[in-house]
Amino acid sequence: MSFNKVKELIEEGDVIILYLGPSNMHSIEVTSKIKNKNDIEIDNVFQTIYGALKIETLIGQKYGSKVELSKGWGYVLQPTPELWTITLPHRTQIIYTPDISLIIHLMDIKPGSKIIETGTGSGSLSHSLIRAIRPYGHLYTFDFHEQRVNIVRSEFKSHGLEEFVTVSYRDSCVNGFGDEVTGKIDSIFLDLPHPWLAIQHAKKAMKISGGKLCSFSPCIEQVQRTCKTLSEEGFVELQTYECLQRELNVVYRNLPLLDLECLKYQRAQEDSNQEKQRQETNLLTVTHNHSVPGHTGFITIATLPPKRMSKFENL
Ligand SMILES: C[S@@+](CC[C@H](N)C(=O)[O-])C[C@H]1O[C@@H](n2cnc3c(N)ncnc32)[C@H](O)[C@@H]1O
Repeated sequence: MSFNKVKELIEEGDVIILYLGPSNMHSIEVTSKIKNKNDIEIDNVFQTIYGALKIETLIGQKYGSKVELSKGWGYVLQPTPELWTITLPHRTQIIYTPDISLIIHLMDIKPGSKIIETGTGSGSLSHSLIRAIRPYGHLYTFDFHEQRVNIVRSEFKSHGLEEFVTVSYRDSCVNGFGDEVTGKIDSIFLDLPHPWLAIQHAKKAMKISGGKLCSFSPCIEQVQRTCKTLSEEGFVELQTYECLQRELNVVYRNLPLLDLECLKYQRAQEDSNQEKQRQETNLLTVTHNHSVPGHTGFITIATLPPKRMSKFENL
């Protein structure tokens, strides 16, 4: 239940994030006892590169506190959608936080929004969507893979999020989104191999006052087909983005101390005898990583303009 409100103490049934380093985190369900192969109840012990953690010892500890492992220590954090995205069990490709933040901004999602997402996949995006629409909004999420639907539904339940989300097992390209949502939805997100097949259904689900449709596709050919169908269906303001993350390393560097009355500095450079006299300083600065995290996908956003009132139709 640790996703739906800020908590001070860890309780049985919570999901915690065990932080061992910036690139070494684990999400763990706090269950003191588990059953072994012989169906006998035993202590739940989580193994890490710094040794074992007996899960029962977490109960009653403060979120954010340091915990002892048999060969080191770690920190126990309360989960956020961002931490869940980097620690969740992958059942599919997932959408990561830099793309998610752009998606939520472009779709104009806010507390109270009623939104659709298809396919649900591993529920990475869903957790951020739910946080953005709470406490009055609702997420309707669809997937045509039954096992994924069942797993994500039980995750939402154990994370205390079930009142904000309805998970449906459905092929949204063939069967659309159902009567329950027709004309009620503010914005729709598509993460499908053939998003253009869901656009007519999406239009039916959207409120007549207009709204946003956003589609995530790895390939530009998918984007082309999606944009063609969006235009044919009357969507406007089509834009496609690619969100590339560029990391900076903070380092100390020895750099020549520039004389900002730069003529003096230039003269000093020209005169090799004076080169030795040039002063150096140790500055805190940044360098760019040699490798940039690669392409994830293209994010296409489009607006469905409000329907004109019939009395204005012939003006
Ligand atoms: C890449 S995954 C989505 C990942 C998700 N956005 C996340 O962040 O975890 C794509 C999902 O779409 C589902 N899917 C593909 N075609 C579908 C369709 N026609 N209707 C419903 N779900 C579909 C797949 O089963 C898969 O789970």
